[in-house]
Amino acid sequence: MQTIRLKREKRPYEVNEELKLLRTNLLFCGADKHVFLMTSAFAGEGKSTVTLDLCLSLAELGKNVILIDADMRKSMLKHRIVGPQPENGLSHYLSGQCQLDDVVCQTDVEQLYAVLAGAVPPNPTELLSSEQMKRLISFCREHFDYVVIDCPPIGLVVDPAVIAPLCDGTMLLIEANQVKYRLAQESTAKMKATGCPILGVILNKVSEKKFGRYYTKYYGKRYYKAYYAHSENKS
Ligand SMILES: Nc1ncnc2c1ncn2[C@@H]1O[C@H](COP(=O)(O)OP(=O)(O)OP(=O)(O)O)[C@@H](O)[C@H]1O
Ligand SMILES: [Mg+2]
Repeated sequence: MQTIRLKREKRPYEVNEELKLLRTNLLFCGADKHVFLMTSAFAGEGKSTVTLDLCLSLAELGKNVILIDADMRKSMLKHRIVGPQPENGLSHYLSGQCQLDDVVCQTDVEQLYAVLAGAVPPNPTELLSSEQMKRLISFCREHFDYVVIDCPPIGLVVDPAVIAPLCDGTMLLIEANQVKYRLAQESTAKMKATGCPILGVILNKVSEKKFGRYYTKYYGKRYYKAYYAHSENKS
């Protein structure tokens, strides 16, 4: 199995606390919830960043975790790798160019594994609907405590809805003060229609005014606020 090295970004204390809260809420979602999908209404709201941080946080707790980068159009994970990139990724496996074993990478973080997106394919949605995708998810279910799938935004492409029936729950991430209420509602409705429960909403990039200047020093101007509530009360 190939090993990749991840670029780690230091988060301020309060951000880590919010991540822990998100992690805890997720762990309490139920014993039958192991495979989670992350999506948002729009692009650039912070899904991939929060997904990776959440996986790191779960691994830190001693959970065996795998992150699947299912955003084959715009992978984030490859930009978080230091050193050589794996030859094969999700698109190679789903299109039959390699075996499942070839795409599961170990990371330099104990207990954290990853499947990278691979080369950009011409037909990501079709690939995600394939039998191979089902096989990958059931393999991950069998071998890992938690599977977190980073998806593109449901407001722009249908991919998350295609994967959702294979998952136990959806996390909908919303960027504070950016996404219109109606778009958030539409995105929620699209995900609900898949039958995969929306476990909660993550409100991301909450203004630093709430947190004071300390954070500005470390992490730009906006920060996580992971309001990760059970069921539909935030959607
Ligand atoms: N809480 C945050 N505070 C400050 N910056 C953030 C936060 N979350 C994400 N970002 C930044 O926002 C940008 C977009 O993040 P990211 O790539 O994770 O979004 P995304 O939703 O996955 O985007 P895409 O839809 O393109 O996949 C990145 O530059 C990231 O560092
Ligand atoms: Mg992303």
